[in-house]
Amino acid sequence: MESITAPASRPLTVLAATTPLAGAVAVPGDKSISHRALMFAALARGETGITGLLEGEDVLRTAAAMRALGATVTRTAPGAWQVTGRGLGALQEPDDVLDMGNSGTAARLLSGILASHGIFSVMTGDGSLRGRPMKRVTDPLSATGARFTSRSGGRLPLAIEGVADPAPLSYRLPVASAQVKSAVLLAGLNAAGTTRVEEPVATRDHTENMLRHFGAEVSVAPLGAGGRVITLTGRPDLVARDVAVPGDPSSAAFVLAAALLVPGSSVTVRGVGLNPLRTGLFTTLREMGADLRLSNERVEGGEPVGDLTAVAGPLHGVDVPAERAPSMIDEYPILAVVAAHASGPSRFRGLEELRVKESDRLSATVALLQRNGVTVDVVGDDMLVTGTGGAVPGGGLVETRMDHRLAMSATVLGLVAAEPVKVDDTAFIDTSFPGFIDLMNSIGAGLTV
Ligand code: S3P
Repeated sequence: MESITAPASRPLTVLAATTPLAGAVAVPGDKSISHRALMFAALARGETGITGLLEGEDVLRTAAAMRALGATVTRTAPGAWQVTGRGLGALQEPDDVLDMGNSGTAARLLSGILASHGIFSVMTGDGSLRGRPMKRVTDPLSATGARFTSRSGGRLPLAIEGVADPAPLSYRLPVASAQVKSAVLLAGLNAAGTTRVEEPVATRDHTENMLRHFGAEVSVAPLGAGGRVITLTGRPDLVARDVAVPGDPSSAAFVLAAALLVPGSSVTVRGVGLNPLRTGLFTTLREMGADLRLSNERVEGGEPVGDLTAVAGPLHGVDVPAERAPSMIDEYPILAVVAAHASGPSRFRGLEELRVKESDRLSATVALLQRNGVTVDVVGDDMLVTGTGGAVPGGGLVETRMDHRLAMSATVLGLVAAEPVKVDDTAFIDTSFPGFIDLMNSIGAGLTV
């Protein structure tokens, strides 16, 4: 049986790589798709088999929550899980608090499910998650008839009095957030009538894809420049369907970035999910002059997948437009590390949402770079990085603030810094990328914990 334990602190000192990185690896399953697969499977009628599931702590929290809500969730082999669903509207009341750990996706998406079942539940999380805004989901979900009581500022712990007959919602997203969109759509599943979500900027559409995969009727129409209107017909016959989870492009990002930066490297990551609403980083890296090659393109489980090879070479600064942010929202810390090594200035626009991630990633990324001798500024919601055109000075201590992506970004920085980089805690890497250090070592990173 898988276990979820509060991670003990794991500091790391990263020395510069002494040889090129080389090899072909696969990264763990996509976090967004893994959460959704477990949730949809628990809501569907019948038995769903999931392969390639991310067995990081975030997703294990979702597995435990769906079990507490009455679904049978069993791990049959590494990455292979069987879920016997309860059927839509039939989740049972959990007999204890649901602890979502570090996972904003789990907490936000589950809110939509809990609001639309006639049960009482309480959700909490770790110190990072308890500081993150939940009003962005409880505000729209209140219109279903569900009632929410939270700590001040709309923060967890959150008590939810759900309703068995929720009203369908019609909601325009005030922030570009796939989590908020998904919470509203998940609530709409058990609502009689049509649920409608308008998003002014398109965000990752794994929920829409998976709704269709499990038999729901969803339509997507364009809205203005780059936006979408999503319409869901409530109370579908949600039927179990197997799900193959692709490799997480947000995890592949760290491996590929390291390969682009360590001189002489060439690394392939196989089976990376290439949903166009997730690939903003790869577009940006190519604009910086990166040699990033795509091969073996295919469709698996309804999502585009391919193998990506990164070959080290010179990179230059880039100006990333705000409209691209939703398609690479989790990739700015590692992009900032890459930009620090590129020649010339970079500007990343419209990063306000970074302030409410697992940490305030805007200030944390700035601190990560500054501590290691890189010139970086924030102007409004934009980040400006002055590239060194080579190895950064390094020598700093990075505070990862319970944020897995900061820990991995700092590790990559250390591989190409002049002086050793200290990372205060790498334990949170396990939330999204268990085995990261071993995988990096398998391509020659030489990390010692
Ligand atoms: C996610 C959406 C994004 C992203 C998170 C996963 C999802 O959050 O940062 O890691 O699975 O829907 P927002 O929707 O808050 O931008």
